[in-house]
Amino acid sequence: MKIFVTGGAGFIGSNFIRYVLETRKDFSIVNYDKLTYAGNLANLELVARNPNYQFVRGDICDAAAVEAAMCDCDAVIHFAAESHVDRSIYEPAPVIQTNVTGTFVLLEVARKILVSRFVHVSTDEVYGDIPEGAFADENFPLQPSSPYSASKAASDLLVRSYVRTYGFPAVITRSSNNYGSYQFPEKFVPLMITNALSDKALPVYGDGKQQRDWLHVEDNCRGILAVLERGKIGEVYNIGGPDLVENLSMVQRILQLVGKTESLLSHVQDRPGHDRRYALDCRKIQTELDWRPVITLEEGLRRTIDWYVSAGLWVASVRGGEYLSYCEKYYENRERSLHAIARSSSIASD
Ligand code: NAD
Ligand code: DAU
Repeated sequence: MKIFVTGGAGFIGSNFIRYVLETRKDFSIVNYDKLTYAGNLANLELVARNPNYQFVRGDICDAAAVEAAMCDCDAVIHFAAESHVDRSIYEPAPVIQTNVTGTFVLLEVARKILVSRFVHVSTDEVYGDIPEGAFADENFPLQPSSPYSASKAASDLLVRSYVRTYGFPAVITRSSNNYGSYQFPEKFVPLMITNALSDKALPVYGDGKQQRDWLHVEDNCRGILAVLERGKIGEVYNIGGPDLVENLSMVQRILQLVGKTESLLSHVQDRPGHDRRYALDCRKIQTELDWRPVITLEEGLRRTIDWYVSAGLWVASVRGGEYLSYCEKYYENRERSLHAIARSSSIASD
């Protein structure tokens, strides 16, 4: 099987490629990635010389380039996205372009060259905020809250429309929050770990009582591979972690594992439109594909912290120019940015 992987130089994509090349000797992979700030070929150093691996730099919005790279592939796994909620709030245009238009381009090319399977990597954020009680199964209404999750819901629905209209062979995964090695440190877990390791403040949004369902990236990769190999065409599969945990409790666990005190903890201005809780019902993938998470939060966090401790050079390289200006814009000037948003939304409603 020759798989066309989009966004394979990012966090989940690179973990997936390493996992597949390790466990499926008869698979080959074309990794098609634009290498945005979030894409990093250092994530794939371990497989760069594997004869079953090939890298092509390109944008998923460029139909001709996608077709040239995808033309002899059997299946597509679509990870490429602008994946950070905060960035989508402050600068939505690239998010809509990549996540919606890019997915549309891929669907058109994949339909033309008749791939046998297309796995679309969606997210639990398409279900929106579930403040209490319910756990969303795959038929739960889509009520996204941020420009990021709205763009993911749009692409998810576009994929479903291709299944229904054209008999297109797609399957969708909707996973919860991933954590693990090689995650860009703008995201919560690696941000808190790397800040704690360098004695910087740990910025908790609002009261920190928001709940997320943390899934180790290797468990998600096993789930996505199961969906590629055994998922039923046209179906959606939730892939969730073992526990719901409050952000504040995650930070406290990280501080304890790193051996730092809670004096580093700092409550900052909340994220606009912040979803309070995500909660997934994952019985479908458990019963139909016999998948369940095997990495406990305690073990996963310990492994992740060990990895960030040992990956000092990787961390230093990604925390360079773009990252520093991001932090300045979104954390140091957080108040000013929020006032700017409030101003622009009041102009829009006038
Ligand atoms: P990431 O930001 O780490 O990686 C995204 C990758 O896509 C990068 O390598 C980037 O260079 C590439 N990319 C971006 N725009 C592109 C374009 N126009 N053309 C080609 N490549 C492009 O993201 P991630 O956290 O690994 O997430 C991967 C996928 O999983 C995304 O679709 C995301 O929505 C979804 N997802 C993520 C999580 C999570 O917790 N990280 C959970 C559920 C679903
Ligand atoms: O649920 C799946 C989604 O998880 C994916 O679709 C997204 O691609 C991925 O980025 C992630 O979105 P979240 O917004 O849930 O993740 P993030 O790491 O940005 O934040 C996790 C929680 O931590 C959230 O409640 C916001 C909070 N947070 C985040 C940051 C970056 C903080 O309190 N402080 C921070 O500095």
